[in-house]
Amino acid sequence: MAPTVETYPTGAAVISAASDLVASEVRHAVAGSGRCTIVLSGGETPRALYARLAARPDGLPWSRIAWFFGDERWVPQDDPLSNYRMADEALFSHVPISRDRLFRVPTELAPPAAAAAAYEVALRAQFPGRDWPRFDLALMGLGADGHTASLVPGDAALGERTAWVTATRAGRPVPDRITLTIPVFAHAQTMMFLVAGGAKADAVAATLEGPRDPVQWPAQAVEPIDGRCRWLLDREAAGRLAR
Ligand code: 6PG
Repeated sequence: MAPTVETYPTGAAVISAASDLVASEVRHAVAGSGRCTIVLSGGETPRALYARLAARPDGLPWSRIAWFFGDERWVPQDDPLSNYRMADEALFSHVPISRDRLFRVPTELAPPAAAAAAYEVALRAQFPGRDWPRFDLALMGLGADGHTASLVPGDAALGERTAWVTATRAGRPVPDRITLTIPVFAHAQTMMFLVAGGAKADAVAATLEGPRDPVQWPAQAVEPIDGRCRWLLDREAAGRLAR
């Protein structure tokens, strides 16, 4: 199924729309299976979304949601650059989540490959007997260079087809990373890219409308196999799209 692209006038409008879409996906998943498994993206763009979710007056079935991370910087969980810390500050510390359904990457383990291996064990326990996990919702971001999660152009991690989690290097702001692998993302039920700002416009256009080159544009590689993929863009990030 081809990705759908929705453009909004501002980044704030993207966050507002994303909050409603996430709430809808959560309720749908919980109604169907009794739980919702969500993979969170890191960086700065989703911070406002997580805060918006925490502030929703209609609330969500917090105890039914299992939280995972698409990638993590190999820093202590209380480091300002930690994706876990960002999500905890914006969301987890404000709502009654089930802490036994919060799966952060154990970045206290060294080397990064040990943290990746331990995280894979934790994920497999949540999807017993499965070749690949089927997350109900994967939130994704996009870097100006086209990376998504910590899958960066040209990196060896792009070729990983058996491990669910791998250690990799991704440049700034923290070189050592742990990331879910392409097959894991590709098996998601619903994938949602949130991208804002003109700095991403070239990467958005190349990913969505350029030649197929998933090594150079990893977000092309993670497209769901039989799930749906939605791109929510602000006007600036969509500025180079022909459509
Ligand atoms: C990370 C993220 C990364 C992020 C993009 C966009 O750990 O940095 O997982 O993949 O989604 O770099 O980041 P911004 O939203 O901060 O532009």
